[in-house]
Amino acid sequence: MNLILLGPPGAGKGTQAKFIVTTFHIPQISTGDMLRAAVKEQTPLGMVAQKIMESGGLVPDEVVLGLVRERLSLPDCNSGFILDGFPRTLPQANELAVILSASGKKINHVVSLDVNNTDIIQRISGRRTCPSCGKGYHLLNDPPRISDVCDSCGTKLVQREDDQEETVKNRLAVYDLQTSPLKAYYDEAGLLRHIDGSAPIQVIQARIRDILEGQSGDNP
Ligand code: AP5
Repeated sequence: MNLILLGPPGAGKGTQAKFIVTTFHIPQISTGDMLRAAVKEQTPLGMVAQKIMESGGLVPDEVVLGLVRERLSLPDCNSGFILDGFPRTLPQANELAVILSASGKKINHVVSLDVNNTDIIQRISGRRTCPSCGKGYHLLNDPPRISDVCDSCGTKLVQREDDQEETVKNRLAVYDLQTSPLKAYYDEAGLLRHIDGSAPIQVIQARIRDILEGQSGDNP
């Protein structure tokens, strides 16, 4: 099963991807996580990406496509994968189709998590992440057991650099302009399913499970 999770910043793509990984045993491919790892290691690619990410812009297509092409060629993607935060532009979507068809694969599902901007700002301002193991939290909706401390590894939680208000506004504008046209692209391909991303996390999990198990009564 090859799946794309679409949605604006803070829509819950990463949160739901973790659920799909454990339920369906396929890997999450998050271009945001891959780029953040490159920034942390200060690789040449990471140094290019850092300023762009801090401004809320998009890293150039060819850079991201290089990362995804390599990741998709690894054996753990043979039984499926979840693309989280990729594709983000029409050229990325077109090239993804080329990469997949070269190995006889295709996308089976595109799930769009639809959330309004007010909820997004609330979610992103409350988001905290573990810099050590990567586990994500929300101060109100999904808090750690001990304030500011990761449940899994005990590390102090941090706020992402690009979660500052001005950057979030830019990320939302970039999403509207460059990424939201992908909904029409995948709708025309008959792959798009919408989910109300403002519902509680467990409700969304159940709807995703229905879609992936082919039991959805949702509008295509
Ligand atoms: P990326 O890391 O992909 O960020 P994003 O798409 O902006 O998405 P987020 O990670 O902010 O949100 P999410 O949807 O995963 O939400 P989450 O589950 O964390 O990209 C970062 C940057 O990298 C980009 O700006 C760009 O510069 C670059 N980049 C990445 N990919 C690229 C590409 N393909 N091309 C070019 N550049 C690229 O949830 C958010 C919070 O809400 C959490 O605290 C969570 O606990 C909470 N929450 C989740 N679901 C719910 C719910 N249902 N109810 C209440 N709270 C909830």
